[in-house]
Amino acid sequence: AQLWRGVIEEYREWLPVDEHTPVITLGEGGTPLVHSAWLSGVVRGDVFLKVEGDNPTGSFKDRGMTAAISVAAGEGAKAVVCASTGNTSASMTAYAARAGLTPIVLVPHGRIAAGKMAQAVMHGAEVIQVRGGFDECLQLSRGLADEYPVALVNSVNPVRLQGQKTASFEIIDVLGKAPDLHVLPVGNAGNISAYWIGFREYAETGLADGTPQLWGFQAAGAAPIVQGAPVPHPETVASAIRIGNPASWKLAEAARDESGGRIGAVEDEQILAAQRDLGSREGVFVEPASAAGVAGLLAAAENGEVEPGLTITITVTGHGLKDTETALSGVDSVVDSVIDADVDAAASAAGLA
Ligand code: F0G
Repeated sequence: AQLWRGVIEEYREWLPVDEHTPVITLGEGGTPLVHSAWLSGVVRGDVFLKVEGDNPTGSFKDRGMTAAISVAAGEGAKAVVCASTGNTSASMTAYAARAGLTPIVLVPHGRIAAGKMAQAVMHGAEVIQVRGGFDECLQLSRGLADEYPVALVNSVNPVRLQGQKTASFEIIDVLGKAPDLHVLPVGNAGNISAYWIGFREYAETGLADGTPQLWGFQAAGAAPIVQGAPVPHPETVASAIRIGNPASWKLAEAARDESGGRIGAVEDEQILAAQRDLGSREGVFVEPASAAGVAGLLAAAENGEVEPGLTITITVTGHGLKDTETALSGVDSVVDSVIDADVDAAASAAGLA
């Protein structure tokens, strides 16, 4: 069997690289497309999860980062900068480490999950905590890149979207066709824009019959695209998508409209319920933001808005281990079930006796 070579070598002709571009890779991409019996039953169709938490740093960001860091390194960059709710910084710092670039990270103070912070620190980053949210961090990151010799690798860098579009290719390569509907969470709106590029390119070159509808979901407390106006103080338990003024807003609206899809909002309770159900029914542990697409599909199905018989793919964007604090909050049984080391006590605690 041939080993997976990472998204640049697997999809080189589709990406803005040439033979001089150094390939900075951790073997990203090639993630599982897992059939969900639970969700298939709910929508009376065929639902698959694209499990992007299985990427090297635990999120879909690695697809864009292998491309952006390789191109930046090829252009002679010495330092790279990003604003992040945590996953972009985890990914950027890993690829920067491999490329020998200095990573500069701007994050909202005290508002990113601990696992992601640990990743950036271990990859050797200067982590700068900003008094403000992601939107302010992105302004700073753009400002630094404008005035100093550092390359910006947020998704406003078009190379990022080029790398991320490879997830669409993989879905079609595995399914043998485009899905009818693709569902995913929306934060800064880069990923939905990237998927649309990928789905369109495969359709335009005849590798797929058509394109899916794209359904994106924001958290209700951070849903500027749904509301049609920036949200000055976005709030949601899903820290990864706590964003009030997405950089790729226009591209996301185009993806929605050209695909005949929709961008909706889901409440935090729906997100957390979907996260728990994915873990306990499907064995797939995702971080809260990653469950927003599943939550949105469930809500649509409940409203009778999903016609039966469709092939549906859902991107679950990041690994649950990144944010164990949220996963454990409110789980009283973990502390309540302390017992002595005794078989009878264990049997009773386990509900066996
Ligand atoms: N899911 C996760 C786990 C994310 O980390 C992000 C974005 C999204 C969904 C939304 O993707 O921004 O392309 O619409 N995280 C960015 C970050 C903002 O800094 O890690 P998007």
